Amino acid sequence: MSVPNTLLTKESQDKDTSPILQVSNLTKRFGEGCDYCKNHELETNLCSECGTVTACSNVSFELDKGEILGVVGESGSGKSTMVKCLYFDQQVTSGSAILTDFKDGETNIFDQSAQMQRYIRNYMMGMVYQNPHLGLKMDYSSSGNVAEKLISAGHYHVGKIRERSSELLNQVEIPVSRMDEQPKRFSGGMQQRVQISKALANNPPLLLLDEITTGLDLSVQAKVLDLIRNIQREMQVAMIVVSHDLGVIRMLADRTIVMKEGKVVEQGLTDQILQDPQHSYTQLLVHSLL
Ligand SMILES: Nc1ncnc2c1ncn2[C@@H]1O[C@H](COP(=O)(O)OP(=O)(O)OP(=O)(O)O)[C@@H](O)[C@H]1O
Ligand SMILES: [Mg+2]
Ligand SMILES: [Zn+2]
Repeated sequence: MSVPNTLLTKESQDKDTSPILQVSNLTKRFGEGCDYCKNHELETNLCSECGTVTACSNVSFELDKGEILGVVGESGSGKSTMVKCLYFDQQVTSGSAILTDFKDGETNIFDQSAQMQRYIRNYMMGMVYQNPHLGLKMDYSSSGNVAEKLISAGHYHVGKIRERSSELLNQVEIPVSRMDEQPKRFSGGMQQRVQISKALANNPPLLLLDEITTGLDLSVQAKVLDLIRNIQREMQVAMIVVSHDLGVIRMLADRTIVMKEGKVVEQGLTDQILQDPQHSYTQLLVHSLL
């Protein structure tokens, strides 16, 4: 990795602590919903009356500039749905999100036109999908995948696009000699790294990373985590890091939210949550880590 890999700690020295993103009551239902599930607190995310799944239920949190927020929770707790809503892949049912750098932080980005949402996505966000097939065109070249993001962020000079693509792929240790290969010929870890370089292409202030290390073997996992920490340190990018693995969260996240059945059941400083988990589900998670 091009960035020097010195001893890193989670405490960044002179961090700017104004929020870059404020999410309030983000709710996403798959299904129409009925009087019962719209008006009651359900135990699970599935409504027994109408079969609607409330994948995210009144999710609220803030993300500071350059901060890493961890999102942890069991399978099906709504983590991917939450980040997909923020990236406009899914349309929220209700709730708001405010980006401080967009229109002076005075508008709900979920209410913007599709065109405006494309702009936000192209210029202000980067996403690494849990499923690399959602994030990459497997039949394009890897450099082509990165170029796509550059073009959508307003770069048109072919030579410069090529140069920047190779710089970005180099940064995640994809050798120049393999830049023109299709991601479908890459290993899972390599595909994740192509996704990361694509996500970084437009220098976004906000990165959404969904299970970036899941399914990778331990040595590759450690490399990807190192890469993420270096990126955060060097570029001061704010990140939402989703993982069902508390070990990953512990290594990366300053603060963490814990989700269960679509709801945020606990949030706070990662170290505090790990030392003294309040919610029974979080206690279970923490104990399984020990
Ligand atoms: N497109 C969809 N249509 C219908 N239901 C969906 C859709 N996407 C997600 N869901 C449902 O929403 C709930 C949350 O799913 P989600 O993928 O957000 O969970 P997750 O926390 O990311 O889980 P995992 O750790 O397994 O990735 C699940 O019950 C899922 O079945
Ligand atoms: Mg998921
Ligand atoms: Zn219902």
